[in-house]
Amino acid sequence: QTIYLKDYTPPAYLVDHVDLRFVLNETKTRVFSKLHMRPNPDAASEAFFLHGEDITLIAAKIDGTAIDPQIDATGLHHTVPNAPFIFEAEVEINPSANTALEGLYMSGGMYCTQCEAQGFRKITYYPDRPDVMATFTVRIESDLPVLLSNGNPVEAGDGWAEWHDPWPKPAYLFALVAGELVNHPDHFTTMAGKEVALNIWVRPGDEGKCAFGMQALKQSMKWDEDVYGRAYDLAVFNIVAVDDFNMGAMENKGLNIFNSAAVLASPETATDANFERIEAIIAHEYFHNWTGNRITCRDWFQLCLKEGLTVFRDQQFTGDMRGAAVKRIDDAIVLRAHQFREDAGPLAHPVRPASFVEINNFYTVTVYEKGAEIIGMLRRLVGPENYDKALDLYFSRHDGDAATIEDWLQVFEDATGRDLTQFGKWYAQAGTPHLSVSESFEDGTYILHLSQQTPPTPGQPEKEPLVLPIAVGLLDQRGTEIVPTTLLEMTEASQSFTFDDLQDRPVLSILRDFSAPVILKHTQSDATRAFLLSHDTDPFNRWDAGRSLAQDVLVRMTRDQATPDQSFLDGLAAVLRDDSLDPAFRAVVLSFPSEDDTATALFDAGVTPDPTAIHQAHEALTLYLAQHVQDISPRIYADMTVTGPYRPDAADAGRRSLGNRMLSLMSKLDGGKQAQLQFAQADNMTQSQAALTALLKIGKGADELAAFETAWHADRLVMDKWFGLQVGCAAPEQAAGTARKLTAHPAFDLKNPNRFRAVFGSLKANAAGFHDPTGASYALLADWLIKLDALNPQTAARISAAFDAWKRYDANRQTKMRTALQRIADTPGLSRDTTEMVTRILG
Ligand code: ARG
Ligand code: ZN
Repeated sequence: QTIYLKDYTPPAYLVDHVDLRFVLNETKTRVFSKLHMRPNPDAASEAFFLHGEDITLIAAKIDGTAIDPQIDATGLHHTVPNAPFIFEAEVEINPSANTALEGLYMSGGMYCTQCEAQGFRKITYYPDRPDVMATFTVRIESDLPVLLSNGNPVEAGDGWAEWHDPWPKPAYLFALVAGELVNHPDHFTTMAGKEVALNIWVRPGDEGKCAFGMQALKQSMKWDEDVYGRAYDLAVFNIVAVDDFNMGAMENKGLNIFNSAAVLASPETATDANFERIEAIIAHEYFHNWTGNRITCRDWFQLCLKEGLTVFRDQQFTGDMRGAAVKRIDDAIVLRAHQFREDAGPLAHPVRPASFVEINNFYTVTVYEKGAEIIGMLRRLVGPENYDKALDLYFSRHDGDAATIEDWLQVFEDATGRDLTQFGKWYAQAGTPHLSVSESFEDGTYILHLSQQTPPTPGQPEKEPLVLPIAVGLLDQRGTEIVPTTLLEMTEASQSFTFDDLQDRPVLSILRDFSAPVILKHTQSDATRAFLLSHDTDPFNRWDAGRSLAQDVLVRMTRDQATPDQSFLDGLAAVLRDDSLDPAFRAVVLSFPSEDDTATALFDAGVTPDPTAIHQAHEALTLYLAQHVQDISPRIYADMTVTGPYRPDAADAGRRSLGNRMLSLMSKLDGGKQAQLQFAQADNMTQSQAALTALLKIGKGADELAAFETAWHADRLVMDKWFGLQVGCAAPEQAAGTARKLTAHPAFDLKNPNRFRAVFGSLKANAAGFHDPTGASYALLADWLIKLDALNPQTAARISAAFDAWKRYDANRQTKMRTALQRIADTPGLSRDTTEMVTRILG
């Protein structure tokens, strides 16, 4: 069942064109297909096989003659002519029974599809692999008023519509939507002067939540023209919002389908963070039109070719829209918290995996976010001009191709003359490099000694040195920059870099802008880090110095019951008081590492983390900080008041972010008075949610929670927040009970991934609650994953990763987590998806 990259062979048959006809019915949809096929001259095999799962064949023909093919659980076999031929099939499928949300399924009365990675084979018989690319013509027959597919509309009549997609594409980019939908229309003129009709399609009632997504789409289209020279290539671009969706969104050609949480927003219902995420996801899916669709992947091992590059592009976009420094900090927080954790545990895998059982289990932070880091390193190494040159060559050389990572690296070699053999190891070697740093200074010469070492990962005991771009700057003792940011290229296991002609021993600022995804093993003194926190000219490192101090303080408080040093609290207060600093930046400096981050830091220091003790330390530090800044917090809180109509832009969002950080600190001392006031007065969700969170975290907010439910019971996305906040903010010993109680709420819906994640994603995120020593949360999550797996394997498998760090904990917790995992593994009929995950986690 394991599939290996090394076993890749070209497809035996190619498809030039596909005609599809759908006769939609909720339980018995008929799909008529006509595939214009021919033998692949580059193929070794002549065996004819079409993928097909969970579909009923009604009839099949080759060149007009009925055939009786051999059918098994994975597809269809037959003999075919050694010349171009036409394969036709009629199949029946049942969209309403499709709770896996893969293939054609129903969501809130509408038909929709999700075909990536291998969902098309649940729609009809087809060579469902990304290196088979064809043009598609699609006819949809249904009484529903809105009938959509990929490409441009051809013609429509009473009860039918026809679409044609002129761009050859793999089956995973196919999409179909039918329903009673309303649109939010707009248009865009490309740099070539072509008009594009834009639409966001939603269920009636959601029309008022489309304007922001539409604006983000137009900004994305413009940005891709300005920055990458890439214009849109069809007459229409449609986006559809669906409530039941396994992931965030999907880049189907000309017909992007979105989880409604990733596109719908209004000031009353969405937070600043939601707005920013929506803007990024709209951009991400739009950018896939060139990096993913026009140039796709040869096979699913190459997933990072489209995902790493497209994430990198959406990160650049957000940086340009909202400020590069805070965006880089936000991305580093996510990478360290989730990707470094994945790299350090049983689920570690290379950015380009060498094997998989179920590809859906590899849509991971490693493939996406570490994949984006690799692109960022490459850009830093070759420089922005060479990067642009290489991208132009990539687009011209590979347009229309199903490409590989080798193709990608070759483009950079050809465009820049650089040998990327060693750099390419970033794609194949799993694990996070640890970078140790020591310094020496003598007679005006400063030497930086670096060594890199990557710990073993499952299946990869030996690691080799990687190419590390390390951005450094040097400051003098007064805080003046004496060596501006310089990029060092480390290629050896150990290497030294020399800086001459210095007056005095400099202060090192290393890994500026987080120039490589590595763990720094540099132990700068508290005093040096405090100095960098107030003086570093690189905003990332300025933040990171404070972050690393905070992490050490939290480790000492947890392990030694220490109290935080005054100087650390003074440093934070100084940043808080510095009105010349961007509020968003002050807010990130004032926010602490998560409890999971502290667990990782303790584990790395050789201490078994106790989530209960960690939680107490975090609570204590918050209280110390609240007291330390209590004389200024009301003033800052008031200063950050945003007047006028709500705007989701970075400036206003930054002010609310800092104001709400103040609110959370103030609520530790005022019994929630200010938070109650803010909740009562709020006219937008950012302010209501922050107030409610502050109240729940001090064990209050029951009335507000009830009022919130009364106000929002009819809004699915807001109710997801209501479910999630209660579990996420619950006291450790109450988290499992709260989650259990909410699963009995009439609005809990096992079939809706957003609702399931609201409860169980939040349970996992509540570290002390998830790891409550009774094991109640482990058992509850296992119970519900077993139930979900029978309906939706993909989402069950994803959430099972909550157990991935089980070996870090004490014997009691380990035993209880292992029991939960084993119980899932032993479930009769467990899906391939979840089986692969729990097997890997158990190790
Ligand atoms: N390609 C989509 C995106 O990154 C994600 C689709 C993932 N779907 C899946 N079934 N794994 O934008
Ligand atoms: Zn993507």
